[in-house]
Amino acid sequence: MKIIVTKDYETLSEKAAEIMISVVRENPNAVLGLATGSTPIGLYRLMAEDHQKNGTSYKNVRAVNLDEYLGLPPTNDQSYRYFMRTNLFDHLDIDLSETHIEDGLAKDEAAECARYDALLRNLPRDIQLLGIGANGHIAFNEPGTPFETETHVVSLTENTIAMNARFFKSEDEVPRRAFTMGPKSIMEAKKILILAVGENKARAVREMAEGPVSPSLPASILRLHPDCTLIADEAAASLLKKGE
Ligand code: F6R
Repeated sequence: MKIIVTKDYETLSEKAAEIMISVVRENPNAVLGLATGSTPIGLYRLMAEDHQKNGTSYKNVRAVNLDEYLGLPPTNDQSYRYFMRTNLFDHLDIDLSETHIEDGLAKDEAAECARYDALLRNLPRDIQLLGIGANGHIAFNEPGTPFETETHVVSLTENTIAMNARFFKSEDEVPRRAFTMGPKSIMEAKKILILAVGENKARAVREMAEGPVSPSLPASILRLHPDCTLIADEAAASLLKKGE
């Protein structure tokens, strides 16, 4: 795992944008694996700015997202589909029909997981962007998820519900279940970029980079990927051994 430490969030977002934009410039038909959450918001703003100023085109780019809450329609402002439109897709020239995410309203959950796995097999990702949970989760794969798991439905942990409550009016409104890509599907991307911001991610970052590779810390699987870059701000990197 290559580790880049930046002094602050803005610099982290700039470094991440350089990587994402270069993937698209090198391959105008690139498939991007994307994430939601607060961490990539600065990156998405810079991708939109670059598109507007420098004309980087997403016309032939396809996008697949990691996860979606169960029970929220795409029009709900807390759905991840809505997040992706407002934070990124609406500011690019991407074809919305080529932006994919699990259907939070799917009635047959198993069929929806199978549909998404088939879609991922047909759209090999050039890069997969990730954030990390304070408990080491990636996507909604909580501690204990077997590494070979593909797309599945998860019950969110109390920790994740509490962390996500800041986006809702109250904790009661946070959906309890979600569809998520599994660790196996994440690892199939050609390149992985994981971003970590803030002191509350420091323990998870240390465990991911220096602890045992184990499903008890889902992000640790990324150490087995041949092309994975972590960009962490100083706070998130503060518990890493010096000189690494
Ligand atoms: C988002 C996702 C989550 C977040 C993680 C960090 O699609 O799958 O794993 O990346 O919870 O969230 P933030 O960025 O809000 O700290």
